[in-house]
Parts: sequence; structure tokens; C-alpha cells
Amino acid sequence: MELVGRTVLITGGARGIGREMARLLTGLGAHVIAMGRDGAQLDQLAAAHPGQVTTYSLDLADPQALDSAIAGLRSSHPELSVLINNAGVQVSADFIAGEAHASLAALRREIAVNLQAPVALCAGLLPVLARHPHAAVVNVTSGLAIAPKKSAPGYCATKAALRTFSRALRYQCEDEAPQVRVLDVVMPLVATDMTRGRGGAKMTPDEAAARLIGALRSDKSEVFVGRSLVLRRLMRLVPGLGYRLLRDA
Ligand SMILES: NC(=O)c1ccc[n+]([C@@H]2O[C@H](COP(=O)([O-])OP(=O)(O)OC[C@H]3O[C@@H](n4cnc5c(N)ncnc54)[C@H](OP(=O)(O)O)[C@@H]3O)[C@@H](O)[C@H]2O)c1
Repeated sequence: MELVGRTVLITGGARGIGREMARLLTGLGAHVIAMGRDGAQLDQLAAAHPGQVTTYSLDLADPQALDSAIAGLRSSHPELSVLINNAGVQVSADFIAGEAHASLAALRREIAVNLQAPVALCAGLLPVLARHPHAAVVNVTSGLAIAPKKSAPGYCATKAALRTFSRALRYQCEDEAPQVRVLDVVMPLVATDMTRGRGGAKMTPDEAAARLIGALRSDKSEVFVGRSLVLRRLMRLVPGLGYRLLRDA
């Protein structure tokens, strides 16, 4: 896929992997629409790439704010041809000791940001994307969708659901809008705010973003980045070992 002159929407585009994607995409001549809650970080991103970034400051867990943003995008950005569902949150919670019950609001927000928002964005924006001769939806998932860890059951479940959603959506596009590619990018552990304080070998966010952009430019529909490819192979050969390795990660 050629990226020069394209308009690309990135949720969570002002921080972490999303910010690196925005930097790389503007460097390739794309126009980026970045979404996030933090207006100051969005302003910084726009200032760093004058004329190449449009910002939408909103909470993706707020359905009314999201509906209104989607309506704005549909009317103001008919040129939009790539949607990257990147924003995500991870909530650790012990379900036995009552911690999860006390954190129910955060767990509900996790489902809203990681799953409900991508579904709503696809529902609202696929008709716009499908008007272009080449378009793409990219959903950012995780190795934890394949082998979950015990500390964040909700997060792992949302990423597994997003993978399944991606596949079913891909079937619809294959049959009714083959010009729209649905790409699932399975990320490994990446050094961002989400994983701050956690051990383990981490990929840098610029490398993770570069791999995603490389996948977007290819014709693939599923890409396992870095160690998530090792995990995928392990899950095919010795799934019990894969589950054990991630269980207490
Ligand atoms: N880091 C990893 O090891 C790893 C591994 C596998 C998959 N992933 C996935 O990669 C994606 C990017 O993660 P990251 O590591 O870059 O995380 P990050 O540095 O924590 O960034 C998360 C991004 O999501 C946005 N976001 C979170 N809650 C939001 C909300 N309620 N409304 C709007 N935007 C919201 C944040 O923007 P604001 O704070 O401004 O709202 C931020 O831009 C996520 O989907 C994550 O699950 C990450």
C-alpha cells in the first residue's frame, strides 16, 4: 500500500507505539488524524509535524464522545482510507480477593477502549474506507491474546476478542469490499508506559511502529511482531509450554 498523501486515523496516536507510528507516517507523506485524551500531548504531536496532523481529543470509553467524533470524521474526512485501532489500556486485578470488584469501573473502561471503541470505529468508518480503491483497517492485538497471563484477564480477553473480530470483519471485506484489507498486528512486549516497571526483553516503540508500518505496506492480513512470532510457533508445537511461559508474565 502506498502511503504518500493518505489520511490515516490512529487511536492513541500521541503516546507510545501510536506516537511513533504518527512520526513514521508523516515522514512518509501521510496525513495523520490522532485521537487520545491528553490534549497537551496531541498539541505537541501537531506542533512537531506542522500541517500533517489533525487531532481529536476524546475519551474512547465515552460512547457519546466517540459517536460524535465518528460523525465528524464521516463528514469532514471523506479522504480517510486507513484506520489504526491502536489505543489500549491494561488493568491488573486480583479477582479472588475482591480487588477486581473494587476496580470494576476500570475493568469496564478497559473493555470499552480495547474492544468496544474499535468495533464502533469500524462500524462508523468502514463505509468511508470502502469508497477508496485501496484501504485498510489495522487492529493492534497482543501475544497475550494467544496465551493469556493471570494478572490481567480482562486485557487478554479483549485482545483475543479483537483478533476474532478482525478475522470475521476480514471475511466481510473479502466478500463485499476486497479493496479494504483487515490487518491484525500481534505485538510482543514493547517498552512504553503500559509496560513501565515490568521486566523482560522489550522491543522499542519505534521498532514496533516500523514493523506495523511495514505490515501495512505489505499485502499481509496477520503479522506477528518480534517474539510474538516465536510464541505463535510454540503454541502450534507445544501449546502447554507456551501457556506456562506467559501465565505469570
Ligand atoms: N506495550 C506493549 O508491550 C504492548 C504489547 C502488546 C500489545 N500492545 C498494544 O499496543 C497498543 C499501544 O500500546 P502502548 O504500549 O503504546 O501503550 P501506551 O504507551 O500506554 O499508550 C496507550 C495509548 O492509548 C491511548 N488511550 C488509552 N486510553 C484511552 C482512552 N480512554 N481514550 C483515548 N485514548 C486512550 C493513550 O492516549 P491518552 O492517554 O492520551 O488517552 C495512548 O496514546 C495497545 O493496543 C496495546 O494493548 C502493547
